[in-house]
Amino acid sequence: MTEGNQTVISSFLLLGLPIPQEHQHLFYALFLAMYLTTVLGNLIIILLILLDSHLHTPMYLFLSNLSFSDLCFSSVTMPKLLQIMQSQDPSIPYADCLTQMYFLTVFGNMESFLLVAMAYDRYVAICFPLHYTSIMSPKLCVSLVVLSWVLTIFHAMLHTLLMARLSFCENNVIPHFFCDISPLLKLSCSDKHVNELVIFIMGGLVIVIPFLLIAMSYARIVSSIFKVPSVRGIHKVFSTCGSHLSVVSLFYGTIIVLYLCPSANNSTVKETAMAMMYTVVTPMLNPFIYSLRNRDMKGALIRVLCKKKIPFCLL
Ligand SMILES: *[C@@H]1O[C@H](CO)[C@@H](O)[C@H](O)[C@H]1NC(C)=O
Repeated sequence: MTEGNQTVISSFLLLGLPIPQEHQHLFYALFLAMYLTTVLGNLIIILLILLDSHLHTPMYLFLSNLSFSDLCFSSVTMPKLLQIMQSQDPSIPYADCLTQMYFLTVFGNMESFLLVAMAYDRYVAICFPLHYTSIMSPKLCVSLVVLSWVLTIFHAMLHTLLMARLSFCENNVIPHFFCDISPLLKLSCSDKHVNELVIFIMGGLVIVIPFLLIAMSYARIVSSIFKVPSVRGIHKVFSTCGSHLSVVSLFYGTIIVLYLCPSANNSTVKETAMAMMYTVVTPMLNPFIYSLRNRDMKGALIRVLCKKKIPFCLL
């Protein structure tokens, strides 16, 4: 579209967080604390699952993959945000920006694919308890994880290559606090039809299909309880699926609020708040959801600490 007088942009400005100057330190401390909590919480989950052989079951292997992608997901955005807040220099080089977008897409989609694998695991555990170990074989688990990685890597590659084709003209201010697909697309001055089409189709595929698969698993689970209604059955479902259901609600709840609710009068603030929610809050909460009300995780923590002869272990 614009030939000729276009300047090549070598860096962008991330001006996403509308924080008043006098509150900068407060928010810096808050984000740093949240980021450290995310890293620590997810690392503890990964280590516990690695060290304790009681937790070498499909559910927990998927969970440790989920923790790994949560950890990476917030490490893609938070350190840069903290650096910007500290140095007051909001610029990010073009290549860094595309790299950030690539990894953000990889780890964001990974989370949604892993939630599907976990839902399928719960479905098999409740509907076919006797065949659970033969259906959820190590081979199937590894295949599901590898398939998720391959799909998400190609999907992110597609978006990144399409973005790299676009040219950016004078405007290099991104009204966001990390490089995401849609704010970058808005800045570009090239023809964006192909990009928009691909985002629409692929976005539908990677959000709607996992959501439908999860909903189907839970529909089967619920219908299996109602066939033989019993307090024990319902209790069993809540104890095995409760954590997973909470994480799923958190993940899709954010997406649904973001895309389906009527936009507030200040949409930039709303978008920023929601982006904060899924890049900072969700990865931070997942480990707590899984470990706080989970006896297996607490048991594993005690076993691991005792085996390592840590003095404060009283058992
Ligand atoms: C992810 O899952 C696979 C297959 O279940 C498992 O072998 C692997 O250890 C997990 N990776 C991480 C980082 O937890």
